[in-house]
Amino acid sequence: MKTYDFPRGFVWGSATSSYQIEGAVAEDGRGESIWDRFSHAPGRVKNGDTGDVACDHYHRWREDIALMQSLNLNAYRFSIAWPRIVPDGDGAVNSRGLDFYDRLVDGLLEAGVDPYVTLYHWDLPQALEDKGGWRSRDTVEAFARYTEIVVDRLGDRVDNWWTINEPWVVAVEGHELGLHAPGHQSVKEALDVSHYLLLAHARSMEVLHSAGSNRVGIVLNQAYHVPRSAHAADVAAAHLADGRYNRWFLDPLAGRGYPEDVVDALGWDQAVVDPGDLVAIARPMDMLGVNYYTRVVCAAPDVSDVDRPRPLVTAQGEPTDMGWEVYPRGLYETLVRDSREYGHTSMYITENGAAYDVPKIDGSIADSLRRLYFEQHFVEMHRAIANGVPLEGYFAWSLLDNFEWAHGYSMRFGIVGVDFDDQTRTIKDSGTWFSGVAARNGFDA
Ligand code: FCB
Repeated sequence: MKTYDFPRGFVWGSATSSYQIEGAVAEDGRGESIWDRFSHAPGRVKNGDTGDVACDHYHRWREDIALMQSLNLNAYRFSIAWPRIVPDGDGAVNSRGLDFYDRLVDGLLEAGVDPYVTLYHWDLPQALEDKGGWRSRDTVEAFARYTEIVVDRLGDRVDNWWTINEPWVVAVEGHELGLHAPGHQSVKEALDVSHYLLLAHARSMEVLHSAGSNRVGIVLNQAYHVPRSAHAADVAAAHLADGRYNRWFLDPLAGRGYPEDVVDALGWDQAVVDPGDLVAIARPMDMLGVNYYTRVVCAAPDVSDVDRPRPLVTAQGEPTDMGWEVYPRGLYETLVRDSREYGHTSMYITENGAAYDVPKIDGSIADSLRRLYFEQHFVEMHRAIANGVPLEGYFAWSLLDNFEWAHGYSMRFGIVGVDFDDQTRTIKDSGTWFSGVAARNGFDA
């Protein structure tokens, strides 16, 4: 048995996003988002699930804050639904939308829970999508304006800001693989979109900085890429796959421009990159958010499949319900790389967690595998801190079981279980364990 203590002031929180939990999609003047449109299109989401009701958090937020309190969490990462604030994306402001987040922020602060606000977690106003969405530079400006509206209302109480959540997912799942809204399938679009997302991040950060905020960053999903074997072709495949997934964003944010090997492999024309864009994107961030779930094992691709790593089912125990391998060491490697190779000096794990569907029996949800997942990742996080990584906090994905995008309600990530028939919340065993870690700022294992 060893004791793992975390630095004084370490942040223990949980994370959610607007479309995944709020519901109330037609209330108080909210406009349509691309996820409303996408989830209502036949065949896009498992079982035809939508976020129309989700966890009904829009009405139950007080109860959800009380849950955070009982879990001893001192922070909460949530996102703001752009279509609640500016229903058509770039037109009139809907003050009732702002009122909701205003009350939520006040409620959190009263409960001693520090808000970490994400401005974009994928629910783009449909009206902007109709005008070109993230394929258009105009959306970058609309995002800057929306940022200004939000910070103007909440900036007196919110200190911590995340601009864009997981640009890779928005670009690739949404515009290349067609698995997420808006469901397009074009490699070029995905590349163009990733550029505008980075630019939107930078513009939004500029707005926040001018409003006096000094805690702003982006959230990147990072997977640890390894070759299947030491064979040169596999090593090269892993390098390229890592380039596409991780370096594609880390490099330009660090002022290094887009990685040449990936630009070449994908034949990107870079027509959307205007003079000055790369300098704008390299604007120093105050903090980096890391979402880590798993690793990707890469094998040399076929000639017909040059840009895509082939994820392999590997032998490290049972995968989670998402099919993701549990690979805690990848978290350590990711954190160390971000700080040593890219020089990040303030980092947060903004998401980490596992999907396991465990039934409620006699009032309890005994999700021992999720608890183990957390524990193993906390050990690696502790090791990273001991080796000098400036990690300041951890947010479990997720507070609640929720609408898991194309998987609908079939994937349960919560430390709190949700019964979607009657909206009953039940703290899972992993949540109880997590609350002990948060209270003690450490654990024994
Ligand atoms: C991340 C998303 C989050 C959730 C988790 C499982 O990619 O940011 O909304 O879906 O994965």
